[in-house]
Formats: sequence, structure tokens, C-alpha cells
Amino acid sequence: VVYENSVIASKSVAKEIANLIREKQAQNEPCILGLATGSSPKSLYAELIRLHKEDGLSFKNVVSFNLDEYYPMEPDSINSYVRFMKELLFNHIDILPENIHIPDGTLSKKAIGDYCSEYEAKIEAAGGIDLQILGIGGNGHIGFNESGSLQNSKTRLVALDHITRVAASSDFSGLNNTPRTAITLGVKKIMEAKRVILMAWGEGKSNIIKASVEGTVTNQVPASFLQEHSNATFVLDQLAASKL
Ligand code: GLP
Repeated sequence: VVYENSVIASKSVAKEIANLIREKQAQNEPCILGLATGSSPKSLYAELIRLHKEDGLSFKNVVSFNLDEYYPMEPDSINSYVRFMKELLFNHIDILPENIHIPDGTLSKKAIGDYCSEYEAKIEAAGGIDLQILGIGGNGHIGFNESGSLQNSKTRLVALDHITRVAASSDFSGLNNTPRTAITLGVKKIMEAKRVILMAWGEGKSNIIKASVEGTVTNQVPASFLQEHSNATFVLDQLAASKL
């Protein structure tokens, strides 16, 4: 779906999320959201905060699972995804702290394997992800599932691609300080989400959007796996959609 700009597009995604949360509230059920970081969902989170403050939307029945976190990463570090989520969303809404899940960047390396299995088990115990929000990396990564990630890949520690590190390097004041690894939800759990919305803005994303939507389904472009998802939508602004 192509919108005139990212603000209008984000409002429409926020509306869908709000409707889902309210539908689940009416049924006395939790709403399981898969959440993303990066610049793309910022306007979505701003709109969700507005709906909370001005429209009375409550997040008390929301259980969230974030896609990824750099490793190693302290939660209060300026570039952590924990901090990103708190500052851009969680601190401004009434989600219960115990319902928030973000991969832990402070674990010892040998604890990561079990931790990732438990992260997936928690998603399963919650009934699976009702709605997964995604951005897309310049190489087609979703979460931190870089090129080469398999369609059935699990939640795991991954090495970041050079292109991903270069894109992040301005946040870390240079490539040398940019993490080399991250923990990411695997492609399998993303594909198991009942509904997936990938958001992309700007001309810089137009080539990878074309490859993801119209190209061959390939693990070189993990976002292309979504062509095989039964309820996935790419929400784009005109520039991101300009090569389709
Ligand atoms: C990071 C995140 C991804 C995100 C991507 C794109 O790599 N781990 O989940 O989709 O950045 O970021 P942006 O939305 O800033 O283009």
C-alpha cells in the first residue's frame, strides 16, 4: 500500500494496531505485538502515543516482543534498543513493564543460546505474535536477519553485515565503535506472526523494496520471504515505492 508520505502512512498503521488492541480488549484477550526499532517506526510510535493521550487507547492488554538488540549492549546505553523503545514509546503509554520483552544485550556468550530458545518459548506461550511491525535494512534484512539468513532461522546471535554497520556507524560515532553482533528474532517466528506490516520510507529504500516485492524469493534478500506470508503488507511512501 502506497501513501503520499510517511506521516499519513504511519497513522493508518497506528489505526490498525489500535483497532486490534481494542478488539482484543473487548474479548478480554492480550494483544501480542512484535515491535521494531530504527527510524522507520518512529512516526508510528508518535501516533500511538497520541492515540493513548488524546483518544484513551490503553496498552494494558499489550504484550510486546522486540525484534532485536545489539550485542553486547547495556540497556541504559544511548544506542540500546531498550532505551529507544522506552524513550519513543513505552515511557509514554500504560503498557505494563512485565509485558515488555527486548532481547538482552548483557548476557554472557554462553547463555545466549538458551536465552534465545526461552524468548521464542515466551512468544509461543503468549499464543504467537498477532501483529509484527518491521522496517527493512538497505540489504533487505528484517530484524537483524542479514542476507543469507534462512527462512526457518531461529532467534540467535548474528554477525552484522558491513553495510548494516556502516548505516549504524553515525549513531556510534564511527565504524570502530559500532557493534559487530546482535541478537535477532529468527525469520521463522517473524513468518509465524498472524499479520506482518513492513514500513519503508524514502528513495534510499526503493531498490531493496523492488527486490523484496517483485524479485525472486531468496535468502539473499530476507524481506522477500514475506511474499510467501499469507497476511503481510508493505506500507510505503511514494519515494520508497517509486521503482515498483
Ligand atoms: C536496524 C534494525 C532493523 C531496521 C533497520 C532499518 O538494522 N535492526 O530492524 O529495520 O535498522 O532501519 P531504518 O528504519 O532506520 O531504515
